[in-house]
Amino acid sequence: MAQLWGGRFTKETDRTVYEFNASIGFDRRLLPQDIQGSIAHADMLARQGILTQEEKTSITEGLKGILGDVEAGRLIIDEEKYEDIHSFVEGVLTERIGEAGKKLHTGRSRNDQVALDMRLYTRSRVQETDGLLKELLEVILSAMEENLETYMPGFTHLQKAQPITLAHHYGAYFEMFKRDRQRMADIHDRMNYCPLGAGALAGTTYPLDREYTAELLGFYGPTLNSMDSVSDRDYLIEYLSALTTVMMHLSRFSEEIIIWNSNEYQFVELDDAYSTGSSIMPQKKNPDIAELVRGKTGRVYGALVSLLTTMKGLPLAYNKDMQEDKEVAFDAMDTVRDCLTLFTGMLHTMKFRKERMAQSAVNGFTNATDAADYLVGKGVPFRDAHGIVGGLVLYCLEKNTSIDRLSLEELKGISEKFEEDIYDAVSLKTCVEKRLTMGAPGPEVMKQAMEEYRTYLREAGIGRADQREEIRK
Ligand code: ARG
Repeated sequence: MAQLWGGRFTKETDRTVYEFNASIGFDRRLLPQDIQGSIAHADMLARQGILTQEEKTSITEGLKGILGDVEAGRLIIDEEKYEDIHSFVEGVLTERIGEAGKKLHTGRSRNDQVALDMRLYTRSRVQETDGLLKELLEVILSAMEENLETYMPGFTHLQKAQPITLAHHYGAYFEMFKRDRQRMADIHDRMNYCPLGAGALAGTTYPLDREYTAELLGFYGPTLNSMDSVSDRDYLIEYLSALTTVMMHLSRFSEEIIIWNSNEYQFVELDDAYSTGSSIMPQKKNPDIAELVRGKTGRVYGALVSLLTTMKGLPLAYNKDMQEDKEVAFDAMDTVRDCLTLFTGMLHTMKFRKERMAQSAVNGFTNATDAADYLVGKGVPFRDAHGIVGGLVLYCLEKNTSIDRLSLEELKGISEKFEEDIYDAVSLKTCVEKRLTMGAPGPEVMKQAMEEYRTYLREAGIGRADQREEIRK
């Protein structure tokens, strides 16, 4: 145990206490951020004349050496000896470069240090999520472009309702994941301020240049209240909240794929690489990836509730409770990364049984509304038309057929108003083409929406806000 705070103590920490208190088992992944933050801190200390140039150079080289050696496997992070990643870095640095290593922590506390590390780390994960969402949106949009005229039933209450296209259905998910990306950009903008220099809670007496460290680390500027800086995890809560929404969207989409892949529907065929078999039932091809994504949604929700609960009773400023932010948050971040990656791959390789989808739309009378509209066009009041088509559906059900397969004679038996042009009026193509309000499945309006989506994918992204004026609102 090489502790940073031994001076005041006369007894060794009990081993069980040490282990209970230690965070190195999980905060070790913050090593790159800890080093990055320390290099910026040393740079600023030297610029302010608090460290000499030689000390700064020796610290910077030492820190880079530690990162390089850990990454290359030449230096092992000793979990028995160091309680957290900050102690490890400072301990090894001092072992390696001597006195100068002990000066690195001037004007800094582990409280603002961990606040910085966590913020840097979260910021990079927000960027990663944004990138993965973008890849998913690319796959969705490509599928939309290929399936403007792939007809399928649209559902309400999971009952066939009106005909739509696959492009239209996918478009709904494009909107959802687009909003998820917008949330990433918002979170990035709100969190992108640097807590370093807040000290333990009340700033420091050294003349630190917080603007400078903030700039070195790619922040818009320093945070403005030192108490808040060390005790704020709102950005992490916001990110976890956005991740729960991503998972909710992925889970809904997974649920649809599971339904589409069922024997009853057979709308899609999952690629062999993205499905699994059964150890006993040879005919099975299971949608495990979609099911796992749906299932893992729970643990991501759990992380959000866990952190909200941890934070709810904390008085200002730092409390050790806040160490509990890490494990659940890391797990949620990794889970969402894996789910997005796997889901995108599954979607990209999934094949559609277009004939079956179209047939399902026809057999489910999704064109019944259009048949009623047809009668309205022939002068029948809508309420009567609704009744007539209801009778027509009943007739079809008795005969086990669909509206388009009835003879004109049969149709006229139900209403004299039916003419030869009814067949065209109830074809899926006509039903869809006539839906031409913005946002509807009609191909013309779909093309307009998709053009906007293409532009969006080309132009939107995190950090573009740097170029905007009103950053701190
Ligand atoms: N391991 C701690 C955490 O994750 C680092 C901050 C420690 N600060 C302190 N005063 N003990 O929150």
